[in-house]
Amino acid sequence: MKVLVVGNGGREHALAWKLLQSPQVQQVVCVPGNGGTASLERCHNLPLAVDDFAGISTYALENSISLVVVGPEVPLAQGITDYLQSQGLMVFGPSKAGAQIEASKAWAKSLMAETGIPTAKAAVFTEATAAKSYLKTQKIPIVVKADGLAAGKGVIVATTMAQAETAIDTIFQGEFGTAGNVVVIEEFLLGQEVSVLALTDGITIRPLLPAQDHKRIGEGDTGENTGGMGAYAPAPIATPELMTRVQTEVLERAIAGLTARGIDYRGILYAGLMISPDGDIKVLEFNCRFGDPETQVILPLLETPLEELILACVEQRLGAMPPIAWKSATAATVVAASGGYPGKYDKGKVITGIPEAETAGVTVFHAGTKLHQEQIVTDGGRVLNVTGIGATFPQAIAQAYNGIKSIQFDGIYYRQDIGHRIL
Ligand code: AMP
Ligand code: GLY
Repeated sequence: MKVLVVGNGGREHALAWKLLQSPQVQQVVCVPGNGGTASLERCHNLPLAVDDFAGISTYALENSISLVVVGPEVPLAQGITDYLQSQGLMVFGPSKAGAQIEASKAWAKSLMAETGIPTAKAAVFTEATAAKSYLKTQKIPIVVKADGLAAGKGVIVATTMAQAETAIDTIFQGEFGTAGNVVVIEEFLLGQEVSVLALTDGITIRPLLPAQDHKRIGEGDTGENTGGMGAYAPAPIATPELMTRVQTEVLERAIAGLTARGIDYRGILYAGLMISPDGDIKVLEFNCRFGDPETQVILPLLETPLEELILACVEQRLGAMPPIAWKSATAATVVAASGGYPGKYDKGKVITGIPEAETAGVTVFHAGTKLHQEQIVTDGGRVLNVTGIGATFPQAIAQAYNGIKSIQFDGIYYRQDIGHRIL
């Protein structure tokens, strides 16, 4: 079969790479893809925008694409699944209605309240005066969030009242466009974050291996928030007992709530959780898609062919599938970023050393690269995800660092302490 993957990050490179390992998958087309997917055997890029639904549909129908796998949240929230399905295509990813679980934090909060999913106490506002009056009744730190999609930038953890007030003003003044028409103010939670991504066909829910990522730019988890500077799986903090609670108290309730709202949710349901020091679970957010960079450590450990699991979700027969098979190993990824990220950075820097890194045993997923005149050049803030696999975390992490040291481009930056919590 031929599969079309929508998106251009490290997550989509990992999806294409994993899909091509399945004996049933002959070819993958990435829209628009990156330098990594351009270089992958039996894979090519198609230069269309992820919101060009008509273009994607025409191409898919004319080129006998059997399955479309959607990576990013933006096209899902815009209804790519509904559109492509209406054209007769098979699509993995929830409908526009289902994607609200990520696209509106207020919507997700009300779903959690209705279904008893544990989460931080929160209040929702549509104008600044009421938001600020509420703020005065709260303690700091406090978390101020733009309701809609803001590429991970719409969440401000304020450590002073002044900072929280500024955040309210900034969001309502349009910093994040219409994503900031509504503001959610939320109690600050302390603990360790875990990402639990689950496959679902709207009835059955099968969690993938739990992962943790490092969101901050600096060593020791300090400095600005980023899209993620490194990740590892399976996260030891997510014990089997904890995963059972996530299944019953979070995932099953979420699917029940979605069903009660008339939504047949098929795809990935990603719960971003905070585990408190005494083991309490609270949901920070839901996402309607695979995590990035979590996918780059989860998929290398997956043994069941990915396309079989995806088709079982789309065709609503996940319950009949045997348990998901995993390698008994660990994986860690280190993100190589452009100097200056998450602030301003340059693009177009020539990248060398990827083949040498791969010879050293790592898998290099491209996040922000492109193929330019036969050379791989930087094309984003997060450039590469260098993934190591090993029987133990120290081995996987050492392999990733051993690989990344061969890689060079002008301004390369990566954290030296990925996995410090588990080492
Ligand atoms: P979200 O997009 O809602 O997951 O927020 C992005 C990041 O902000 C999370 O991954 C956390 O690191 C942080 N964050 C969000 N909500 C809270 C909260 N209530 N308490 C502490 N940190 C939070
Ligand atoms: N790694 C966080 C996310 O994918 O949202």
